[in-house]
Amino acid sequence: ARLSLWGGRFAGGPADALAALSKSTHFDWRLAPYDIAGSRAHARVLHRAGLLDDEALAAMLAALQQLLDDVESGAFTPAQEDEDVHTALERGLIERAGADVGGRLRAGRSRNDQVATLFRMYLRDHARSVAALLLDVVDALVAQAQTHLGVAMPGRTHLQHAQPVLLSHHLLAHAWALLRDVERFGDWDRRTDASPYGSGALAGSSLGLDPASVADDLGFSRPVENSIDGTASRDFVAEFAFVAAMSAVDISRIAEEVVLWATKEFSFVTLDDAFSTGSSIMPQKKNPDVAELARGKAGRLVGDLAGLMTTLKALPLAYNRDLQEDKEPVFDAVDTLELLLPAFAGMTATLTFHPERLESLAPQGFSLATDIAEWLVREGVPFRIAHEVAGECVQACEQRGIELWDLSDDDLAAISEHLTPGVREVLSVPGSLASRNATGGTAPDRVAEQLEAAHAKSSEL
Ligand code: ARG
Repeated sequence: ARLSLWGGRFAGGPADALAALSKSTHFDWRLAPYDIAGSRAHARVLHRAGLLDDEALAAMLAALQQLLDDVESGAFTPAQEDEDVHTALERGLIERAGADVGGRLRAGRSRNDQVATLFRMYLRDHARSVAALLLDVVDALVAQAQTHLGVAMPGRTHLQHAQPVLLSHHLLAHAWALLRDVERFGDWDRRTDASPYGSGALAGSSLGLDPASVADDLGFSRPVENSIDGTASRDFVAEFAFVAAMSAVDISRIAEEVVLWATKEFSFVTLDDAFSTGSSIMPQKKNPDVAELARGKAGRLVGDLAGLMTTLKALPLAYNRDLQEDKEPVFDAVDTLELLLPAFAGMTATLTFHPERLESLAPQGFSLATDIAEWLVREGVPFRIAHEVAGECVQACEQRGIELWDLSDDDLAAISEHLTPGVREVLSVPGSLASRNATGGTAPDRVAEQLEAAHAKSSEL
């Protein structure tokens, strides 16, 4: 008969087809080091409760250390008959410590509280690594913003020229979004900082084991409040998947702009050779594959989130085997971000911007029309009229194929008596930028302060 954890009640082993369906070692094996850490903590709490003597504890801890070494070296791997990481490691422990000592560890715990705890530990570690990788992208954006402080570009809404902004202001807009994603991982971590160990299968443990001491041992600040919630809730997984997907979506918005900016038509940036690819047939091609893959993989992370939410929907309490489906989507999200973000940070850090091109386009498309209207308001003209007058200036220019600053004093006076030559002070990109000097605006002084603030935030997180 097949080795299993529930042999006593069954006359025969599971069918091969069930065993194949049930199996999760091919994806949950990455939890092995966490499982062993959990076993170590569980052995200690059994010892404190008087259920393991000193000798058995020492033998158990030595065997667990040997098992960890063997897992890390590859000497111990899951066997065909092992259902999941927990089953495989219990077999490994018994092989090393003997059935008498090894067979004592399962008292007072279930794979249900085990897996809920290990999964939290795994995700807490990876929230940290993914957040650090996001901060590398932030730092690349901040460095570019620092280098190009003062360079104007066309700010867009609806992808149409809207108002001139500083390139640094635009880059920092992306940086702030990513900084919030990093903060979200931190918020998530505070909520996830509770250990389900001791919840047992669902009802808690009867053996006098102290969940708080296990929690402490495993780096959690507290045990969960409710053993049913501890074993059956997976909102910590879904929330992680959301923050991961949001991060990828924020990255994809930068990516889309890089793809556009690198076109001949935009010519805002040139990609570094090390972060672009060629074509097998067209010798001249230099493609923004890093940005395109970032854009594409965001869809994949949204899919991971959607799949997970669908699995969780309407699941009754407490543990159901459906919950085994919680792992692959977030493992995929973690793997994808850990692969993507270093490349994306490298691409961002090595972008070459073309300041003359950006600056020459900044005032085009009548992007200073709002400045005329706002100048008129400062002169006491109601905005409704000011907006109309500025619109007439645009219409006059469009008819004659000229720009706003080409209008003569007479042209301006003919459009409106309010348009005195003083309006020219805002009909330049530097004048327009400098006038947007409230907090959060694109005026150079404000952007310099913002740069400091983004830098400080990134170092503090
Ligand atoms: N491998 C399972 C999971 O990831 C844990 C096993 C719990 N199985 C059970 N029959 N209670 O959810």
